Amino acid sequence: MDYLKILGRQNIGGSVSIGGAKNSALPVLASALLYEDFLEIGNLPDVADVKTLVRLLEYLGCGVEWKNEHQIKISAQRLVHTKATYDIVRKMRASILVLGPLLSRFRKCEVSLPGGCAIGARPVDLHIKAMEKMGAEILIENGYIVAKAPQGLRGAHISFDKITVTGTENVLMAAALAKGETKITNAAKEPEVVQLCRLLEQSGIKIDGIGTDTLVVYGNGGEPLKNAQVDIIPDRIEAGTYMCIGAIMNTPLCIENVIPEHLQSISDKLEEIGFTINTRDNILEILPAKKMQAFEIITTEYPGFPTDMQAQFMALATQCDGTSVIEERLFENRFMHVSELQRLGAHISLKGKVAQVKGGENLRGADVMATDLRASSALILAALVADGYTQIHRIYHLDRGYEKIQEKLSKIGVKVERLKEWGR
Ligand code: EPZ
Repeated sequence: MDYLKILGRQNIGGSVSIGGAKNSALPVLASALLYEDFLEIGNLPDVADVKTLVRLLEYLGCGVEWKNEHQIKISAQRLVHTKATYDIVRKMRASILVLGPLLSRFRKCEVSLPGGCAIGARPVDLHIKAMEKMGAEILIENGYIVAKAPQGLRGAHISFDKITVTGTENVLMAAALAKGETKITNAAKEPEVVQLCRLLEQSGIKIDGIGTDTLVVYGNGGEPLKNAQVDIIPDRIEAGTYMCIGAIMNTPLCIENVIPEHLQSISDKLEEIGFTINTRDNILEILPAKKMQAFEIITTEYPGFPTDMQAQFMALATQCDGTSVIEERLFENRFMHVSELQRLGAHISLKGKVAQVKGGENLRGADVMATDLRASSALILAALVADGYTQIHRIYHLDRGYEKIQEKLSKIGVKVERLKEWGR
C-alpha cells in the first residue's frame, strides 16, 4: 500500500493537461458489448476503474487489444459466458453497466449486486425495475441479479423516480437493441450520458431529446451494432479538481484539454468566491482572488453543482473568509472527508446533510486517510496549504480516478512523494 507525502505552502503554477473522463469511459466500455465486430475507444484515462472494467469484459470473453495506454479495441463477437462475478463487481459498482447491454444483446446475464460503498448504500433498484419494464425476468439469488429476456427486450416508458446517471446509461444501452421505442423521463443529462447517446446515434440508433431529461430511443430489434470509433470527452471532475488547486493556492493555473461548458457550475462558484476564470477554446485559466469569500453549495444533478466536487470545495472553504455552507443532496454519507480535514485543523460542523466550514484557519500537516475517490483529492488540496508535511494513506482510492496525479502535481511545483507504507 502506498501513501503520498506532501510538503505544504510551496509555490505552484504553470499548466496541467486533463485526461479522458472516467465516468464516460465506463459506460462507453460497457457499450462495446453491443457491437458485432469491434468498438475502438481513444483518450481513455489510465486509471484503475477503467482497468477493472476492461478486466470484466475480458472475463466475459471479449477480445481486447490495447493500442497504447489510452487507446483500446474491444471485440464482443462472442462471449464465453455472461456472469459478472462478485469479486470484480464489488471492486467497482459501475460494473452494473454491463447489465443493460448483456440483456439486450445476449438476452441473459448474471450480475453481482454491487453492494454499498463509502459514500452510501448505492442501490441499483431503479436499474432492475427498468429492465423488468422492458420485459426482462429478474430474480435476486445469492447476491446476484439473475436476468433473462428470451424474446429480447422491448421498448417501454421508463420514468425514473430519482435521476440516476448509470441507470439512464443502462437503459440507453438496453433500449438500443430492444424492439420498439423506449421513452426515458427524468433521465440524467450529464455530459457523460450525452457522449453515450452520441455514440449510439453514430452507430445507427435514432435518439430524440439528447441532452434533455426526456429521451426517446428507437431500438433496432436486436441487431448488433456495426463497428465504431470514439474518443472519450475530457474529465470535468479532474479539471474541476485542478481548478480548486489553483484556487486554494490562490495562484494562476492553466488547465488544458477541457470543455468549458461542462465546468460552468464550477467556474460560476469559483467566480462567486472571488476568482477570475478565463477560457479560450479548450483551455481554462484561473486567476487569484483579492479576497476569498465564504460560499454556499447544494449538490444537484447536472448542470447543477456536482456532488463529485463537494469534497474539493469543502477543502477550499477552509481558506475562505467567513463560514461556508455545503449541503450534500445526492448521497447519504458523502462527508467521510470531514473528520480527516478536521485532523488537519479544519473547523467543520455537521448537521445531517449540511456541513458548516469556518474559514480563515491555518491548517497543519498530519497523517490522514483517504476514504473514497473524491475525498482523497480534498485531502491533497488541504495538504497544499497546510504547514509542514501531510501523509495521505490508502491512496488506492485516488488511483481509481486520477491519472498520474503525482506526476501532474510535481509538474506544477507541488513537493510530493509516493512512498510505501512501512513493512509493506
Ligand atoms: C454516477 O454514479 C457517477 N459514477 C458518480 O461518480 C456520481 O457521483 C453520481 O453518478 C452522481 O452524479 C459513474 O458515472 C460511474 P446515481 P451512479 O445512480 O450512477 C440513488 C465518482 O466519484 N439511486 O446517479 O451510481 C443513489 O443512491 C463517482 O466518479 C437509487 O436510489 O449514481 C443516489 O442517491 C462517485 N437507486 C442517487 O440515486 C438506483 O437504482 C444518484 O445516484 C440508482 C441510484
